[in-house]
Amino acid sequence: MSIPVMRPWIGEEEAAAAAAAVASGWVAQGPRVAEFERAFAEAIGIGHAVAVSSCTAALHLAMVVAGIGPGDEVVVPSLSFIATANAARYVGARPVFADVDATTLNLTPETVAPVLTERTKAVILVDQAGVPADLETMRKLCDPRGIAIVEDAACAVGSEYRGRPVGAGADIAAFSFHPRKLLTTGEGGMVVTPDGETAARLRRLREHGMDVSAAQRHASKQPVIEHYLETGYNYRMTDIQAAVGLVQLAKLPRLVARRRELAERYHQLLSVIPGLRTITDPEYGQTNYQSFWVQLPDYFKVSRDDLLRILADEGVSARRGIMAAHTEPAYSDDPASELPVTEQITRSSLILPLFHQMTDTEQGHVVSVINSVADLPSAAGTPANQVHGSHGR
Ligand SMILES: Cc1ncc(COP(=O)(O)O)c(C=O)c1O
Repeated sequence: MSIPVMRPWIGEEEAAAAAAAVASGWVAQGPRVAEFERAFAEAIGIGHAVAVSSCTAALHLAMVVAGIGPGDEVVVPSLSFIATANAARYVGARPVFADVDATTLNLTPETVAPVLTERTKAVILVDQAGVPADLETMRKLCDPRGIAIVEDAACAVGSEYRGRPVGAGADIAAFSFHPRKLLTTGEGGMVVTPDGETAARLRRLREHGMDVSAAQRHASKQPVIEHYLETGYNYRMTDIQAAVGLVQLAKLPRLVARRRELAERYHQLLSVIPGLRTITDPEYGQTNYQSFWVQLPDYFKVSRDDLLRILADEGVSARRGIMAAHTEPAYSDDPASELPVTEQITRSSLILPLFHQMTDTEQGHVVSVINSVADLPSAAGTPANQVHGSHGR
């Protein structure tokens, strides 16, 4: 048996949509990108969506439009993919690492307040593994101090915060369409904002700072001389990607529902291991279970890394838990303050396979390998009603 950590739910419909984009003769950013942006903004319930080449590009542009620059500090979780911290460096600012809440793995006002200084200009609030961060409580800390909040919703398409899609209430939020995420365009990202002027600037910045897009110039019957109003980037998405994205977006509710069903089964099967903690919904929202992380209890017989090796030997491709950027060589010249929760979680957690087409047999196999190491009876085929415990939450 060979079980990947993730397999995108992508197939003939997406292939046909990509082929149609190719056949149309317009493959760069064009009408399909515009359509994808409209559909995405509608799905989130926000005024504007601007498609870009990745979430990393989206975060960079979010820093630019938030006016962050050299000398500024940006509070970020170390417990995140390194792109979160790098975004601050791209604009010459200093990322300042804050610890995270042990249950949601997200920043909270309690973890952010101790690292604020008068140089703090922004907080990048990550919805880690798809678990929505509590934006409203963070606003109470940041708004009175004039600190911008950029939501890094890379993992959170399809998650809900206080009854609305994640991103709906943000000033600016960035999404990823990398294949490890629920909705994929191969590579790709989206910035959403309620503000029309911000959206217009984002569109300009992703396309070299041009005042008219290449698609608009192409559509015009008369020659159009473009101007470059500021230093921009080439962060465009292609129409081939957007064609795939439109199909994927229509599948999003089914993707989320299936992941939540599989996650519930993991909760039940894994609850036989005392002290094993798992990702779960916060009280104010719902996760899309982008990554199903588990944290091993202290007494566990093998280390996290040994468990990863045992799983690999049994054909299960799991991953270490969320990385901690402050422990990486790229950040060794900028010592972080104490981050005890981050360090504990990054050391003792791992991410289990979870994908749309995963079968009960595959899931049972993953659990039985973990159970065998924990010295428990195999959970494969264990009826849910015989499983006891508190779901490890
Ligand atoms: C929290 C977070 N931010 C940013 C990114 C970067 O996304 P992308 O690969 O689309 O650039 C990722 C990707 O894993 C992520 O998990």
